[in-house]
Amino acid sequence: MKRLALLLCVVLAACSNDNVPDVSSEKAAADALQVLQQSSSADGKALYAACAACHGAKGEGNVALSAPSLVNQQDWYLFRQLNGFRSGLRGSHPQDGYGAQMQAIAKTLPDEAAVNAVVSYIASFSAEPAAKTLDGNIKRGADYYSNLCGACHGPAAEGNDKLQAPALAGVDDWYLLKQFDHFRDGIRGADEADRYGYQMGMMGKTLPDAETAKDVIAYIQSLAD
Ligand code: HEC
Ligand code: HEC
Repeated sequence: MKRLALLLCVVLAACSNDNVPDVSSEKAAADALQVLQQSSSADGKALYAACAACHGAKGEGNVALSAPSLVNQQDWYLFRQLNGFRSGLRGSHPQDGYGAQMQAIAKTLPDEAAVNAVVSYIASFSAEPAAKTLDGNIKRGADYYSNLCGACHGPAAEGNDKLQAPALAGVDDWYLLKQFDHFRDGIRGADEADRYGYQMGMMGKTLPDAETAKDVIAYIQSLAD
């Protein structure tokens, strides 16, 4: 099975490129680790200096480095994801190269106070919906979304903290699609100990094909306009 997956990756080429950080992002990661190793305080602004190289000065993200915008995400979700990276629940799958990169950085945040501080600092940026990069059949996507996704992520994809389901509207469409694929393929959320990731992992298998996933994400993107 593993061999087959590997072969498919070679044939499709895209899947390996998609998940393996390139030279420029490896350099950004090394710089970030250096900044973090030097900062021991829980000063959110100082800590964010280590994040800006990839996520942008105002949290707007950088598609070339596969780093998503963070400003349209709720603080409780950012906090939980950072702790998921720190504990190794997220970013540990061998095919999750970018998750591993982010895991190494999150693990360098000294403690929970530092996680809190950097998240509060990100929350001070103004929300700016990410630009559209994907095309899909929005009407078809809307039907699937309301039947299969809206109950947890909310009718306007605004998120629901009671269910720990994050906002999706305004988040980069390329990132949402990639994360959805990772849930579907067991690259994210495969570990039962990752309670919420595991839940979403099961949902990743509910859409019939890749085309439908693109339609649903295109619909979600349209909600942010
Ligand atoms: C070397 C580039 C790089 C640096 C530096 C970096 N990140 Fe990331 N970050 C990424 C990438 C790439 C991802 C996407 C991982 C994936 O595809 O699963 C990510 C994902 C995240 C996520 C998950 C978002 C979501 O919606 O799932 C959070 C939260 C995050 N980063 C916060 C931070 C914070 C806070 C810092 C600074 C302490 C930081 N990042 C520094 C590259 C970086
Ligand atoms: C049972 C509730 C539930 C349903 C239904 C559901 N999700 Fe999720 N979803 C979640 C939870 C919880 C998370 C957070 C997972 C984590 O913490 O790793 C999540 C995370 C995600 C993410 C990752 C976002 C990010 O920024 O990291 C995407 C993309 C996503 N869901 C898309 C969908 C789509 C598309 C559907 C419909 C096909 C759907 N979800 C249906 C609960 C749900």
